Amino acid sequence: MQNPNSNETSPVLVEIKDLRKVYPNGYEALSNISFTLKSGEFVCIIGRSGAGKSTLLRCINGLIPLSGGSLRVNGTEFTTLSDQEKLLLRRRIGFIFQEFNLVDRLTVLRNVLIGRIGYKNDLSAMLGYFSQEDREKALWSLKRVNMLHRAKSRADRLSGGEKQRVAIARALAQEPFLILADEPVASLDPELTWEVMNDLQTIAREENVPTLVNIHDLETARHFADRIIGIAKGRILFDGPVRDLTSDHLREIYRSNDLQKKSRYEI
Ligand SMILES: Nc1ncnc2c1ncn2[C@@H]1O[C@H](COP(=O)(O)OP(=O)(O)OP(=O)(O)O)[C@@H](O)[C@H]1O
Ligand SMILES: [Mg+2]
Repeated sequence: MQNPNSNETSPVLVEIKDLRKVYPNGYEALSNISFTLKSGEFVCIIGRSGAGKSTLLRCINGLIPLSGGSLRVNGTEFTTLSDQEKLLLRRRIGFIFQEFNLVDRLTVLRNVLIGRIGYKNDLSAMLGYFSQEDREKALWSLKRVNMLHRAKSRADRLSGGEKQRVAIARALAQEPFLILADEPVASLDPELTWEVMNDLQTIAREENVPTLVNIHDLETARHFADRIIGIAKGRILFDGPVRDLTSDHLREIYRSNDLQKKSRYEI
């Protein structure tokens, strides 16, 4: 279903133009990538393994440098910032990984407080000191994903779905301009996949945070996305609402010499 809160007049929060990424070994993983994200949009990125989905999220997050093009996040051109300024902007970009990336021996609440570290000076972060405001924000974030009751549990006592919810809460505690999620449900069973995707979609809509999700499962992408971006060999082949994605687009996106694989995407 189309997001009722995001429409033609919603502000553009992310603007990518002609983004290009060439790895140091000379491999061009992305070229001519251009798109915008509006407030509250929930966008799924699909494509075969090796298409460039993770590379794209890593470029947007500043984890790896772009080789060309421009990237504006919340009105700021990322590519011209100093390293220090990039760090400040990155603290407002939530990143969710397939493998959750929680600190196992810490409590759920401590893990979510890690999302507040970007707001602290070096010393208080080092000493693990968090203000009342930080704690309130972390508790609110846990409540948002129905995990408040596990605040005092150690992270390694949680199920996979619960861990991913805590990772979402940690991203939310960052008060993000943008959430990026790289295969956030790839390690989860179908029921938990549904719950975690539902949490991500609800947060995008209710907190107005544009969210980009790399995902392999096409049906899940179709169910939750406002919009789908299909990538093949580092280029965008489709960008539009789910209803416009045809079997011809899918054949292009998943084009392969392997006929068996190809037939999975016939409709
Ligand atoms: N550090 C690197 N150096 C050189 N090439 C790389 C590097 N990282 C990734 N690549 C290549 O860039 C291409 C895109 O990789 P990427 O990880 O972005 O794909 P993906 O779409 O996320 O795949 P998957 O669905 O398997 O996660 C692949 O061909 C990959 O081998
Ligand atoms: Mg990937």
